[in-house]
Amino acid sequence: MAYISTNFLLFFFTISSISFHVIFTATVIEDLNNLQPPPDFNSTITKNCITNPYLRYCNSIPFNLDEIFKSTIVASHLCNISNNTNCVESFPKIDLHSQPKIAPLYLSFTFFWKYCPLTLTSINLSNNSLKGNFPSDIFHCSQIEKLDLSHNNLSGDLPVQNFYILENLTFLNLSYNDFSESKISDKHFFERFNSMSFICSGILPNHKHFRIKAVLLLIGFPVFVISMVVFLGWLCFWRPDFLPRFLQRRNEFTMSILKAATDGFSKRNLVGKTGTVSVYKGVLRNGSEVRIEIYLDNMSRENRRRFVEKSKILVQLSHDNIVPILGWCDNRRFRALITEWIGGENIETWLSNSAPQWKQRVKVILRVALVVCYLHEEWPEVGYNLKTRNVLISENGEPMITNFRIDDHHCSAKKIYKFGMFILEMVTNKRPGKEFEKGESGFVEWVKLNYPDNMEDLIDKRMKKNGLIVSQCAEVIGFGLICTDISNGQRPSWNEILDLISSTLSIESASPDRKRLHLDSKGGHKHAHYRGSMH
Ligand SMILES: *[C@@H]1O[C@H](CO)[C@@H](O)[C@H](O)[C@H]1NC(C)=O
Ligand SMILES: *[C@@H]1O[C@H](CO)[C@@H](O)[C@H](O)[C@H]1NC(C)=O
Ligand SMILES: *[C@@H]1O[C@H](CO)[C@@H](O)[C@H](O)[C@H]1NC(C)=O
Ligand SMILES: *[C@@H]1O[C@H](CO)[C@@H](O)[C@H](O)[C@H]1NC(C)=O
Ligand SMILES: *[C@@H]1O[C@H](CO)[C@@H](O)[C@H](O)[C@H]1NC(C)=O
Repeated sequence: MAYISTNFLLFFFTISSISFHVIFTATVIEDLNNLQPPPDFNSTITKNCITNPYLRYCNSIPFNLDEIFKSTIVASHLCNISNNTNCVESFPKIDLHSQPKIAPLYLSFTFFWKYCPLTLTSINLSNNSLKGNFPSDIFHCSQIEKLDLSHNNLSGDLPVQNFYILENLTFLNLSYNDFSESKISDKHFFERFNSMSFICSGILPNHKHFRIKAVLLLIGFPVFVISMVVFLGWLCFWRPDFLPRFLQRRNEFTMSILKAATDGFSKRNLVGKTGTVSVYKGVLRNGSEVRIEIYLDNMSRENRRRFVEKSKILVQLSHDNIVPILGWCDNRRFRALITEWIGGENIETWLSNSAPQWKQRVKVILRVALVVCYLHEEWPEVGYNLKTRNVLISENGEPMITNFRIDDHHCSAKKIYKFGMFILEMVTNKRPGKEFEKGESGFVEWVKLNYPDNMEDLIDKRMKKNGLIVSQCAEVIGFGLICTDISNGQRPSWNEILDLISSTLSIESASPDRKRLHLDSKGGHKHAHYRGSMH
């Protein structure tokens, strides 16, 4: 034991003869004060410092022999009491866990901490009911890695800024103390030690951080929720077309959607305007082109409700020759009906500009008859204004009926009359409204006047004719006259109309559509009667 290597407590051999059990009694301070360093103590520690200049007391030249001597005695006892395995050579830990009687005493030996042995890496003073401020003497042991002061009654401010001294401290436990709730905003400190080090210690890890979190939670979250609600509300009420498809109300368009579709109702997209009705061409978000018919009439609330109800019916119409009605917009300022955009001209211009041949006209007449019957059968409540102007002709020559007048009265007789006018126009290419002084009745009179003897004048002159065509035209005109005969109380039924048309126009009757023509064959053989009545 003559020589003990680095860092170690090299003094034990000098004092090993002193019996420690007498120390640390009630009179311990007195006892310590009475102790005198041995005469050769100066030379012993001088030697030690030459061997190991890193011993803490070596820095305190000139030596305070008395102080150093006492600290070695405390150290040796403390080392032993802490159950270190070899207190002659090493002193790695202070373990005064649950020793409330002696822990405060050791803490009071300032001289000990001043010369804190460099081998010490762990200090445990937990569960000792220690009172007062944080034991700052511990900062002398700058090399420690573990410090446990949990379960005490330490109070006052935690000297956070001094913890930088304990640069190798990785474990800290200050839980269950009464430190004052000071505003500790040392971010670095709370990054080193997590909240488990401060359970019920009075120390609030980073007050500011906490406050930010609290602010975020208390203000940020509601704000977030409110903005989400506002945003979703905006989506629902203004731009539902941005919602996922399953959340969209399929047929309801908002003013914002229409505005976006028409570039803010720009004049460029205005395709027609009559009175309070404006027609726009628009492009929806999904890229489909639509026709937007806007009614700027100030409708009563009740009428608007009815408009929506009728629109709900209209969107269900489904026929190859009906322009699909996509939906409606019901707004305090205006109503709108949105249909698919069908390019191409209407029948009226088609007739005057393209002078279609009989075969093409027959196709149109048949298709329109089919739609008319479909509507009568399936949707008797739906009104429409059958006119050459309201039927479009698609690129492949299919008529597309549009303009379902929602607020029409659905009088079947009127519909039959309109259908009669339609087919008369198809043959004659005359505009009853423009070309006859008395309008439609003048037109019908003119047809009656020339029928059946003057077919040449009645049939559109630009159409190629042969015997079959002329006779078919005569049949159609005769039929048109029956339909338009206002005085005739016994108008044909829709099924009779369909049957008559399809059998007359046998060109088409071989087509697959023939099957669809016979929606109902009940009245199928009555047409002879009407033909008879005309001749
Ligand atoms: C201890 O010894 C050194 C020389 O080794 C001397 O300078 C110093 O004064 C001595 N101190 C005391 C307190 O005797
Ligand atoms: C160290 O403690 C043991 C009991 O744990 C005791 O027997 C021994 O005398 C003590 N040694 C010193 C030097 O205090
Ligand atoms: C704290 O110390 C007391 C005795 O002072 C003991 O009964 C108790 O079990 C200890 N608690 C812990 C957590 O060590
Ligand atoms: C911390 O540990 C490193 C490496 O073990 C050592 O060099 C340094 O001196 C230690 N710091 C203190 C304050 O003891
Ligand atoms: C500190 O001590 C308390 C109580 O004993 C314990 O619950 C906690 O986990 C400890 N903290 C750490 C970092 O070990």
